Amino acid sequence: MIGGRRPWWLHAAVYQIYVRSFADANGDGTGDVAGIRSRLPYLADLGIDAIWVNPWYRSPLHDGGYDVADYRNLDPRFGTIEDAEALIADAREHGIGVLVDLVPNHSSSEHPWFVEALASAPGSPARARYHFKAGRGVEGELPPNDWLSNFGGPAWTRIDDGEWYLHLFDSSQPDFNWENPAVIAEFDDILRFWLDRGIAGMRVDVAPGLMKHPDFPDIGDVSQADSAMAIKDHPFWDRDDVHPIIRRWRSIFDEYDGAMMVAEAWVRADRLPLYLRPDEYHQAFEFDLVRAPWDAATFTSVIGEAFAAANAVGSTPTWVLSNHDVVRHPTRYGLPGDIDPAKWLLDGPHELLDEEAGSRRARAAAMIVMALPGSVYLYQGDELGLPEVWDLPESVLDDPVWENSGRRRKGRDGCRVPIPWEATGPSLGNGAVAPWMPQPEGFAALAVSEQLRDEDSMLNLYRSALAIRRERLTSDEDFEQAVSPNVVEFTRGRGFRCIVNMGTSPVPMPTGEVLLASGSIGDELPSDTAVWLVDSSGE
Ligand code: NOJ
Repeated sequence: MIGGRRPWWLHAAVYQIYVRSFADANGDGTGDVAGIRSRLPYLADLGIDAIWVNPWYRSPLHDGGYDVADYRNLDPRFGTIEDAEALIADAREHGIGVLVDLVPNHSSSEHPWFVEALASAPGSPARARYHFKAGRGVEGELPPNDWLSNFGGPAWTRIDDGEWYLHLFDSSQPDFNWENPAVIAEFDDILRFWLDRGIAGMRVDVAPGLMKHPDFPDIGDVSQADSAMAIKDHPFWDRDDVHPIIRRWRSIFDEYDGAMMVAEAWVRADRLPLYLRPDEYHQAFEFDLVRAPWDAATFTSVIGEAFAAANAVGSTPTWVLSNHDVVRHPTRYGLPGDIDPAKWLLDGPHELLDEEAGSRRARAAAMIVMALPGSVYLYQGDELGLPEVWDLPESVLDDPVWENSGRRRKGRDGCRVPIPWEATGPSLGNGAVAPWMPQPEGFAALAVSEQLRDEDSMLNLYRSALAIRRERLTSDEDFEQAVSPNVVEFTRGRGFRCIVNMGTSPVPMPTGEVLLASGSIGDELPSDTAVWLVDSSGE
């Protein structure tokens, strides 16, 4: 709920919306802002405090909208700026804040600044807003350095006049030059543009990537995917000089009561707190749980370390199980722990997937993150237990990762399939035409309409958990973790306990009044099952 004594975001439940795939009001096959507005009652009933809307700006959608052509307007497929304003106002009526996605590392190659840069001469002010460089080799035919794009292939593309430009992602996403005062001023203004429209906050994309080493040195002979976590003074990742930018933004945010920033910062655990200092980001996603296999010791240590890191800077952790970039967690938890889910998408063996175990564990995992102090970010469809759609035909794959990696990485389309609202119809409740990404047959049984009717559904588990969380759990309580083999266990003030059996055999059922359980329980707590209990002192 926005407002109140403590900052609302310290203990919020935030629901992530991938606009294209959430709800399609005009029935053209692509989700839109009017669709989000029409589903606000659903979101309010679910019991969330805010929504984070993935990029909705004008964009050629080469990277799902993370290629922004106009930061101050919406893509016509999603709606208009008036639709955005109406959503922010309606959401507030429902007690829901709106977070928008800030994409400051790069624009689209269709952004007017980049179009102008291409039309301008080398060395011109228009080029200086991005990173244009001469190439190496006798004729400049080699890229300026050895940096690789996150999506595969070189991070440089050559243009007709021989210069190269930098893109840490797709070639349609040129990186801004954050040394340039014009870029800094432009983003100050973009921040204010959205803050003035009453947003509750911003999720900041590629937070550790903005600054580049002034000399653009080679990275050298090291796996570049791992280098960002391993190299000190990395030439483009998690550089110390990114922090003055964050402080600048924070001072703008501080002018707007209650507005917050949450950073997408895939950095080493010991570096994350730097982003959370009191004059920097309010929050940063805790991604270690996204990477954790279904294993009690790993969960226990990730939770403990996240607390220590957040406490050290006076912040609270920000829990995530899934988002639009990773294999959905019911599928991750259905795979053996030594399998890399992203590799498995392409290479299998797909018969290793145990969907039932995955779904059982997803129920239990949801009860962990919703019981922990701090914020929880839910990704649309988590509450329906949607699995990763790993068998999308190659012909429909849309993520640039697929082609850029030479078809060696399947990409993220399987977690971006449109939400099933109804069990029938060409788009399962999204309109008269098939959606932009096909929904598999199994989605019908997971539709909202079906789950609302089933008292034991994942949706009803989420609704109950969020209601209990809101009523009983506040971020100010004492939190204590117990360490026991195969079991994740922690207590919070007023006698609340969360106990999860991650082992393969049942454990004795702890005493206390059961508030909620993720599966059937009796004298024993079965494997892959979570329970919330309260003892008499909690009454
Ligand atoms: C992180 C976003 O979450 C992802 O979807 C996007 O592809 C990259 N940043 C580039 O903007």
